[in-house]
Amino acid sequence: MTSTPTTQAVPVPAPHSSGCPFGPPPAYTDAAARGRIVRADLPGGELCWLATGYAEVRTVLSDHRFSADVRHPSFPLLAPGRREMLAANPSFLRLDDPEHARLRRMVTGDFLVKRVEALRPGIQQIVDETLDAMTEGRTEADLVTEFALPVPSLVICLLLGVPYDDRDHFQGLSRTLLNNTSSLEQLTAAQAEILDYLRGLAARKRERPEDDILSRLAARDDLTVDAVASTGSLLLVAGHETTANMISLSTALLLERPEQIARLADPAALPGAVEELLRLLTIVHTGLPRVALEDVELGGETIRAGEGVIAMLSTANRDDAMFGGAEQRATDELDLDRDARRHMAFGFGVHQCLGQPLARAELQIALAALFRRLPGLRLAVEPSERKFRTESFIYGMRSLPVAW
Ligand code: HEM
Repeated sequence: MTSTPTTQAVPVPAPHSSGCPFGPPPAYTDAAARGRIVRADLPGGELCWLATGYAEVRTVLSDHRFSADVRHPSFPLLAPGRREMLAANPSFLRLDDPEHARLRRMVTGDFLVKRVEALRPGIQQIVDETLDAMTEGRTEADLVTEFALPVPSLVICLLLGVPYDDRDHFQGLSRTLLNNTSSLEQLTAAQAEILDYLRGLAARKRERPEDDILSRLAARDDLTVDAVASTGSLLLVAGHETTANMISLSTALLLERPEQIARLADPAALPGAVEELLRLLTIVHTGLPRVALEDVELGGETIRAGEGVIAMLSTANRDDAMFGGAEQRATDELDLDRDARRHMAFGFGVHQCLGQPLARAELQIALAALFRRLPGLRLAVEPSERKFRTESFIYGMRSLPVAW
């Protein structure tokens, strides 16, 4: 096998830089400068591959010779010692077709573009009311806890039929599950708790169904109670943490680039501006894990059957050839006029984000309303005091004190 010497293997997850807080860890961008497929080092000490180039990432995510099944004995784990726990009751995110497709189909209809378009007035109302509550009689707030987290949490609770009053509980569990420094005990307990919580909720919905996703899943006789809980947990966790971090990171970044904020006020430019924020921030900083089922030639290397590959979305989304345009504009800079539509912040292939129409609607509505309502929005602390979520599989912010 051709491989780069172990000494050059990139650690995944790699530490973030103390410099620019909006980019991926420098180890990944350095790796991308060295090659489109390089060796990587997992926390358990296992070696795997890192796909850094746009075309290579696309292949890893769309070629059926790469599996997303976490039960595969050499599936690459971004935190050690978790194989048994993760393989116990995987959601469809970590299963292959046909099982993945069977389960995903059960909820596809709820996230179609047409369905989400109809939700826009409701999302707008949630955004407006959240801003009313945040600003009433005040001139300062923590944007994370008072806006970025409540908006997508309220929306996904409504869709799933999860009581918003339980938010402290499920938001805390989600953070533990997404934290790559959680101990195995903490993780196992958080996973058991969130699945128990959803099993209980599903049992109540079976008795008294309402017009929500959990009620519909709970009523099916082709789904086990465990499958209802794992699908519910995937939707609940993915449905709020991701968008919340995109809202807070986008706001923090735009406050550093105030000359670009006006683009959000132009309804024709808003969707493109959000795509550029998604591209540049690519919050799944740790990349997407897959395992090769057969030998595959990729980027001049041979990936052997059974070897793991991490598809690094953040470097693929900074590929100069794809996103630099004719003028070769810097791809590590925010440029809200860039055509960023082919970014892979939502992944690619059969596992491409199910919730992307919803995330797009939430981001467009939330960011436009925030800057329209608070034109004087500014940081309320020194930039060095902003708290980033560097320990999470999904990059984001712990707090963002702002004033207006
Ligand atoms: C800005 C916000 C979001 C980002 C950046 C994001 C990103 C991603 C990515 C990269 C994947 C692919 C994972 C893989 O291939 O291994 C994914 C899958 C998924 N996302 Fe999102 N997501 C976001 C919002 C949401 C929302 C709001 C929901 C709503 C429920 C959601 C639900 C899902 C689900 C269910 C999957 C699994 C799809 C499958 O395996 O078929 N996501 N997301």
